[in-house]
Amino acid sequence: MAAPVMTQFLAVFACLLISIFCEKYKPIEIELQSEINGEPARIFTAEEIRKYDGSDPKKPIYMGVRGVVFDVSDGKGFYGKGSEYNALVGKDATRAVAIWSLEPDDLVPDVNDLPDFKLKMLDETFQETYMRKYPVVGYMDYLVEQKEFEKIANSKEKTISMEKKNDRNSDKTENKLQEESLQGDTQNDNLDAIKKTSDEVFKNIPQTLLAQHEEL
Ligand code: HEM
Repeated sequence: MAAPVMTQFLAVFACLLISIFCEKYKPIEIELQSEINGEPARIFTAEEIRKYDGSDPKKPIYMGVRGVVFDVSDGKGFYGKGSEYNALVGKDATRAVAIWSLEPDDLVPDVNDLPDFKLKMLDETFQETYMRKYPVVGYMDYLVEQKEFEKIANSKEKTISMEKKNDRNSDKTENKLQEESLQGDTQNDNLDAIKKTSDEVFKNIPQTLLAQHEEL
């Protein structure tokens, strides 16, 4: 009697472990603010943010982490010219922060290939160090584009799933096959629309949002 109970217990325990270790880490959602401390949020291209790398003592020092741009001037001892972590500023070096590296190849925003535990550590540093210590001044253009794309994709996805639901509820007629092929066309049209609209958004962002930028 004890043996099956033990087996059941082990099975439940194994499932628990699997669910803990296999669950994909979901990075903290970043919400973009159009205004920060009463000022319009600034949008930075890689070229723009490079001007704030600590080499000009009259300018603040900016650093991008997860696409959010922080004014890290108060950490001049870490980030100023000739300081230990100067390589991290004037750019979005999210990858370097995530994996604790100062190698030139790692001074980039891309973290897509990193394991979950690194992404989790990155989020901890993002919140505990950067959000807590330094003021946000704006966002990297890539984050704004990504958010716009997600917004469009989500709204289109909703439309597609509504259409699917309506189709399922409607009476199946003899020309069902023909209907399904039409439905396929509609979905393709929707996907085309997502691509087209997001292309337009990408094209418009630099003109509409970069216009807010004023050099200090
Ligand atoms: C053996 C190597 C390292 C040691 C002993 C070390 C040590 C430290 C110490 C003592 C601090 C200061 C904590 C504080 O006063 O708040 C710090 C902060 C920091 N370190 Fe390191 N570090 C090392 C390597 C690295 C590397 C490779 C990176 C690359 C990304 C890095 C990135 C940072 C960052 C971003 C901060 C936070 C600065 C801030 O508060 O703005 N460290 N480190």
